Amino acid sequence: MKIVTVLGARPQFIKAALVSHELRKNNEEIIIHTGQHYNIELSEIFFKEMGIPQPDYNLEVGSGTHATQTARMMMKLEKKFQEEKPDMVLLYGDTNSTLAAAVTASKLNLPIAHVEAGPRMYDKSVPEEVNRIITDHISTLLFAPTPLAAENLYKEGLKDAVHLTGDVMYDLFLYFSKKADKSSDIFDELGLNNREYILTTIHRARNTDSVENLKAITSALQGLSANNKIVFPAHPRTVKYLKKYGLYDALDENPDIQLIKPVGYLDMNILTRNASKIVTDSGGLQKEAFFARVPCITLDSSTGWPETVNEGWNTIFTESKNNFLVENEIVKVVNNFSPQGKYENVFGSGDASKNICKIIENYGENKHTKQF
Ligand code: UD1
Ligand code: UDP
Repeated sequence: MKIVTVLGARPQFIKAALVSHELRKNNEEIIIHTGQHYNIELSEIFFKEMGIPQPDYNLEVGSGTHATQTARMMMKLEKKFQEEKPDMVLLYGDTNSTLAAAVTASKLNLPIAHVEAGPRMYDKSVPEEVNRIITDHISTLLFAPTPLAAENLYKEGLKDAVHLTGDVMYDLFLYFSKKADKSSDIFDELGLNNREYILTTIHRARNTDSVENLKAITSALQGLSANNKIVFPAHPRTVKYLKKYGLYDALDENPDIQLIKPVGYLDMNILTRNASKIVTDSGGLQKEAFFARVPCITLDSSTGWPETVNEGWNTIFTESKNNFLVENEIVKVVNNFSPQGKYENVFGSGDASKNICKIIENYGENKHTKQF
């Protein structure tokens, strides 16, 4: 089969790493990078260190408002899809790149395969929730990472398209942990010891764009730094708003807070597995904290991964005053959260990437049989 894979943002490069490798054993794959993420540390680094095949095209759409960015992608993707004439378009996750590619492929009647279909936050004010719902509803193959994600899709009437495959991020976690142990120097670089620091990442619009929420989060980190080291690889979106709201310097000058550039997947794997706690609004990092059995405090309205909460390893911080986060309450929850040690892994057995490729290939074979 000829598959066109569309990627654009950090979590998508990561999720594609093992699937691309597997897919290329029996199929032709063309990778289109939309250019949504363009900084080296959000894009190029992953292709290099995870051995992801170089994109065949980079559409260089860059940043913009949701509509501008998505529309630019759609115009360029339409041309590429028409030129390449793929048998299937392969998409990951819930970013604007996912949405743009899904709508464009659907209008050209191209079959769509969606990896990580089905998680729901039940909050349509979150842009990613809308991206994911629309993509799921116009896809041909839906690869659900967990039984709950599959259940969500059944409830929306999509049962015929659903395949419960396991989560590719769990495959990656198993595969790259060994490599990270051998090659990452991040502990030496940052002068860290095991379980001696809290790892934090923040990039959701709800947390970064609101001065009240960003202030509450940074004040909470300052408070927590009295008793903990903090490692904070900061997304450029977050840096932009920290500077805009005058919050950057105080964080940067605190010797117990390591405010650093985003790191590669291998360094992040080491930082995650050895943290005492993780404070984040990242969907992917919530799952990785669970895989690593590190307590996670999620600063978001809800989670797409309630499995991690049900098993006791993740807690969603929702305490707010007039709809804004409250600094002291964040500190309390982070200090007091202590998982009960349950651990049933509902994210599969580490073979999701292989399962996904088999299903895509079966689809290709059956489609040909039907046509002739
Ligand atoms: C996007 C995804 C989000 C995902 C995140 C992963 C959407 C709606 N959101 O959010 O689901 O969790 O990626 O990291 O698609 N910027 C740079 N350099 C870059 C990229 C972005 O400086 O290489 C800055 C720009 O100021 C830009 C801002 O970050 O305006 C936001 O970037 P954007 O791609 O729109 O969304 P993310 O917040 O990265
Ligand atoms: N990640 C990384 N370096 C960082 C921060 C995150 O490699 O500095 C990885 C993280 O381990 C996970 C993925 O990026 O695999 C999560 O992506 P992100 O938080 O950007 O997006 P989300 O998962 O929230 O969509």
